[in-house]
Formats: sequence, structure tokens, C-alpha cells
Amino acid sequence: METKMPGTEREVRVRAPAKVNLILRVLDRRPDGYHNLWSLMQTVGLEDELRIRLRPGSSGLSLSCDDASLPTDGRNLIHRAATLVLERAGLQGAQAAGLEIRITKRIPVSAGLGGGSSDAAATIVGLNRLLGLGWSDREMAAVGQVLGSDVPFFFFSPSARVRGRGEDVAALSVTGARWVVLVHPGFPVQTRWAYDRLAALRKTVRPLSPALALLIGKSSVRWEDVIPLMENDFEEALTPEHPVLGAIKCELLSAGAEAALLSGSGATVFGIFRDDAAAMRAMASVERAPGRKAFAVPAGTRALVCEEEPGPRPVRVG
Ligand code: C5P
Repeated sequence: METKMPGTEREVRVRAPAKVNLILRVLDRRPDGYHNLWSLMQTVGLEDELRIRLRPGSSGLSLSCDDASLPTDGRNLIHRAATLVLERAGLQGAQAAGLEIRITKRIPVSAGLGGGSSDAAATIVGLNRLLGLGWSDREMAAVGQVLGSDVPFFFFSPSARVRGRGEDVAALSVTGARWVVLVHPGFPVQTRWAYDRLAALRKTVRPLSPALALLIGKSSVRWEDVIPLMENDFEEALTPEHPVLGAIKCELLSAGAEAALLSGSGATVFGIFRDDAAAMRAMASVERAPGRKAFAVPAGTRALVCEEEPGPRPVRVG
């Protein structure tokens, strides 16, 4: 498809939700150093927001973020995502247009909530729209895969079954409504460290349970059926080092959670609740400890909602 660079300045706003892993099994280590995964991932209503502005008369990529602790250069996944999209679309050098990306960050960083990955996916969706690339979800996921193992999921959300390194994604809807309380203990966990720790601590890889194998090929599953299956292999790797994670899990269960679990490679622990009132009460009780941050949010937010800001302004040329 031929890409046309529009002659007017335009802006899109993309909402980038956090995710939790309702199930996360870390299986064998692959020849490429990554691990094979089996995960059921689900978006939740805690969102970053990206505003991407295309300035046809100028060039270069500028990134700004309301959280000054985040890098805004090539170390930022959004920067890398935008550069990759322009490269794949053949819009570099003389063809390039100026891009200005502003990020409002709400998802805690290095927290097991996929914030950086969701931001990268949102960048791809926003640029696909602004530049009229016409890429399908599957094509965007293939671009996102290069940036991180969690990125492809966001193109198949609100919930999906994920296998391989993270690139084998199939939508699997979790039916019914639930609320989630996310509890961030106040310290980050680096994903690579968590994988190394898990590999060092465990002696064997537990095989996949028949119940999970049965989910393959299904297009939907009820919350009632997912809750008894919830597990995360990283819990055994992280809890000896950070016993507070086990304590938060117990607190969430005492506060009425139907289930509580570590998300991703941590350190956020989340609980599942039947409704918003139960979730709000639990959030108030677990948040009291110093350093913690808690959020009560609905499960299953529609991901990567992309809206064009009204009123394109004509650009003066010359
Ligand atoms: O892909 P991503 O950048 O999120 O991965 C960070 C690190 O986590 C990798 O360098 C690797 O050590 C580990 N990882 C893994 N297997 C996966 C995903 C991540 O071992 N499926």
C-alpha cells in the first residue's frame, strides 16, 4: 500500500491500558535465550495516554512525558516504536515528517503491568492511523513483537491467550464483569532479573495442566472458570526475596478477593472482586501501608482506543 503524507497538521489521542496476567506459566528456555510462555492476559482500566502530532512541514521526533524520571530518547520504548514504524513504512530521510509525542503516565513502571509495552503498541496504532498505513492488527503485532514480548498481546485485547515468546496470541474473551485491585508495593522488578531468578531457583519445569490445554482453541471462558486456574510461576521466584508480596496477597484475600496473584514478573499484586464497591473497600484497606500505591479498576478495558483530535489546522508551506 502506498503511504501518503497528508499536508495538514493532525493529532491523535491513544489510550494505552495496563494488563494483568490471570495465568502465567513460564515453561522451557528456548535456544534464543527466551522462555516459552503460556499466559492468559487481560487489560484493566488503568491507562496511560499518548498524544501523537504529525507536523508535515518539519522533521524529527520529539517525546515528552509528565514523569520526569522516564528517558525520552532512544531508551524509551515509544521512541523505538515510532522509529521502527517510520522505518517499516519507508518514511525516513527526505520523506520524513515531524512527530511530536506527549505521554501522560499513570501505569507504574517496571511493575508487571505492561505499561511500556502498551505505550509501544499505542504508538504503532496511532501512527498507523495518522500516516494512513492500513496495517492490520496482525501486521501491527508483528512490528510490536520486535520491541518486546508483551507488545503483541495489546492488539488482541481485552483478553487473549499468549504462547511462545509472546508472539503467538489468540483472542480469548473472559465473560462476565469483574473489578481488579492493583497493589504496587513501591519498588520495581526488572523482568530479566525475575527470569534469571526463576531459572536459578527451580529444579524442573512443571508441565502444563490439562485444564490450560483445554482452553486452547476456545473463544471464550467465564470468570468463574478462570478464577480457580489463576497462577503465576514468578511468585515462587520473587516471594523469598520480597516476602511483602505474599503479605499483600493475603491482605487482598482477607479483604474479600475471589483470587489474588502477582502480575507478570512483578512487583504488582492484584485481587479480583465482584463489583466496584467491594474493590474500593479493599483498596482503602490495603493502601494504608507506607510506600504502596493501589488502584481499583474494571477488568477488560477496550484497548488502544485511538481518537483523532478535531479540527485539522492547515499548514503554511514556505
Ligand atoms: O521481551 P522483553 O524485552 O520484555 O524481555 C525482557 C527479558 O525477559 C528478556 O531479555 C529475557 O531475559 C526475559 N524473557 C524471557 N522469555 C520471555 C520474555 C522475556 O526469558 N518469553
